[in-house]
Amino acid sequence: MKTETIVILSHREIEKMRRAGRLAAKLLQHLEPLVKPGISTLQLNDEAERWTQKHGAKSAPLGYKGYPKSICTSVNEVICHGIPNAKQILKDGDIINIDVTPILDGYHGDTSKTFLVGSPSPQAQKLVEVTHKCLELGIAEVKPGAKIGDIGAAIQEYAESFGFSVVRDFVGHGISNVFHTAPDIPHYGIRGRGKKLRPGMVFTIEPMINEGTYEPEMLSDGWTAVTKDRLLSAQFEHTIAVTESGVEILTLPENL
Ligand code: MF3
Ligand code: CO
Ligand code: CO
Repeated sequence: MKTETIVILSHREIEKMRRAGRLAAKLLQHLEPLVKPGISTLQLNDEAERWTQKHGAKSAPLGYKGYPKSICTSVNEVICHGIPNAKQILKDGDIINIDVTPILDGYHGDTSKTFLVGSPSPQAQKLVEVTHKCLELGIAEVKPGAKIGDIGAAIQEYAESFGFSVVRDFVGHGISNVFHTAPDIPHYGIRGRGKKLRPGMVFTIEPMINEGTYEPEMLSDGWTAVTKDRLLSAQFEHTIAVTESGVEILTLPENL
């Protein structure tokens, strides 16, 4: 649990979040055509690092709590925080989440997508499609006066209606000039519960949805979280701001 107070960002700060968010979205767009059988996750990492520096930004993950690389690459049964590696070569039928967080002018843009490598199974494609819809449904709950629990409830209802499960151990988070801060945003929950959303709150929604059990297992590298049953996991993430009228997605390639 995050115990800090939830900050309300000024319009000037939200403009900085918009710029960082746009850069994050463009970075994912830049990486997308490289996601093909035969590329290593380290090659994706190195291209992300090069592109981020070229655009005057820094990679938030690099050195964060000792994390060794610039992006997270989570393949198949990896739930999150997969570490790019030269020996990990993408193959036809894989799914891979790429999670990027550039820091631009001090502010963070945190976004991720799960990409299909070649032609994954129909069940894998369904998981990815449902997870993407979970993010959209979570975002659709956001407006002043709504509760944090409304977001998780919408996501959980949808994911479980397909027999999939929602990861509990990793949650969305407040984000600004700090990478991870209050509030926690669980992707499961009960409508009407939790803190009330107010204009100027900025946080991520980043559901991780599993084919089987939601239980994770930690690999010995201390970062990689995999599904306990080694079935597939998918994830999508946006950074959003609560506005006077509803919600603004900050991590879009063509935002204001
Ligand atoms: N980008 C991840 C998130 O969505 C956090 C990665 S932290 C790292 O919150 F250290 F693993 F990079
Ligand atoms: Co992220
Ligand atoms: Co995040």
